[in-house]
Amino acid sequence: MSEIGREWLHNPAGLGARLPQDFRVGVATSAFQIEGGIEAGGREPSTWDTFMAQPGRILDGSNASIATDHYGRFAEDVALLRELGVDSYRFSLSWPRLQPGGKGAANRSGLAFYDRLIDDLLAAGIRPMATLFHWDTPEPLQHTGGWLKRDTAYRFAEYAFLAGEAFGDRVESWVTINEPATVTLNGYALGLHAPGATLLFDALPAAHNQLLGHGLAVAALRDADISGAIGITNVHSPVEPAGDGEEDALFASLFDILHNRIFEDPVLLGRYPEIPEPFEQLFAFTREVDPADYEIISAPLDFYGLNYYMPTRIAAGSPASADTPDGESDAMRHLPFSLMPWPEYPTTGFGWPVAPDYLRVTLQELADRYGSALPPVVITEGGASFADERDKDGAVNDEARIRYLAAHLETAIESVPGVDLRGYFVWSLLDNWEWAAGFSQRFGLVHVDFETQDRTPKSSYTWLQAMIGGRS
Ligand code: NOJ
Repeated sequence: MSEIGREWLHNPAGLGARLPQDFRVGVATSAFQIEGGIEAGGREPSTWDTFMAQPGRILDGSNASIATDHYGRFAEDVALLRELGVDSYRFSLSWPRLQPGGKGAANRSGLAFYDRLIDDLLAAGIRPMATLFHWDTPEPLQHTGGWLKRDTAYRFAEYAFLAGEAFGDRVESWVTINEPATVTLNGYALGLHAPGATLLFDALPAAHNQLLGHGLAVAALRDADISGAIGITNVHSPVEPAGDGEEDALFASLFDILHNRIFEDPVLLGRYPEIPEPFEQLFAFTREVDPADYEIISAPLDFYGLNYYMPTRIAAGSPASADTPDGESDAMRHLPFSLMPWPEYPTTGFGWPVAPDYLRVTLQELADRYGSALPPVVITEGGASFADERDKDGAVNDEARIRYLAAHLETAIESVPGVDLRGYFVWSLLDNWEWAAGFSQRFGLVHVDFETQDRTPKSSYTWLQAMIGGRS
């Protein structure tokens, strides 16, 4: 077991006392994963509504039509946040609830829902961080090509303006897009997420159009005269070659470009990364980019959102069988590289390595690659799934999650030169609907009984509460 964070397992207040004064500690969720109420108040379908209804797409055959019923129980959830003591809460605005169909005027009932949520948060002394897009693209936009089409970026900017006008006076921080890498790779390349396309490298225009949407949304929010800060959230996974050979190193660099750099470089440097010669053809889309797009995409940001979960180990050559954390994908068999295990680390319910040392590597890579172009960084997600169950007394003891959090928080607050790290948000407040894994992976600080919707704070919740209580 990692020694990192060990001393804080039974002394969370001691860790809290070490947090820098203005370091934000929050928790994160997303609309589709917790709200339910998919037909309530005029909401219309998203691509995930369609995807989850297709046979075989979701591991446990479940769907998110009720999810954790946050739509009906948000007041109870705000009370849980207040009790926990977090200073910030990251949630996402549902595009198909606020602007059903992805065009036209705002839906009043959608506005009213988020108005109440935001006002309740502020009344509880919690700063709202709103993500505009956490994967729930309005379904009609998919009929015209979704993120493969430029037009979706412009539709997104219209929605961003509408949201900025409605909530811009109260939202403290805005995240435009959450993990465009996951939407591109899982959604358009591998068919593991909505919309379920298996385009492999032909999926990459979806990356560019999301980045363009991000840049246009930054401009739209500024036009809407919002008072808060603006950022994007990218997931970063440091990549290591599996062996010492040149081939593994080459394919590790390909994965780094595909998963990290094509989403980070345009935002922070205003260009796509250099592509090694053998792979140039795979990234042909970069040759057709209108140079004016780079200006838009690299608009100055107030903060940079980072999701860190794990490192990736890459070997050259296609996978023999395509086991992925989210299930199986035939498309993966056609990739020219394989994702390899990390037997030296303990793993989460998804089989992901618990590697807090690679959080430090992540921060170091951001500092090395982007230097003074890197805005203040906020870790907008980090967390782990485990098979948490209530014991006979109804309590949930999730010591593995406490170990995870202690190690990652300790790492986060050790400073890395060149990175101005401002906060850490735990994924997630509640056990929720984990996309293609359905209800099979529990990430929450609070256990949810998906039959009764009963919420039970786990021991990790009490631990985090005590850590926050130890702040000076
Ligand atoms: C990142 C995504 O933003 C979130 O929606 C997801 O639940 C977590 N990763 C865990 O997989």
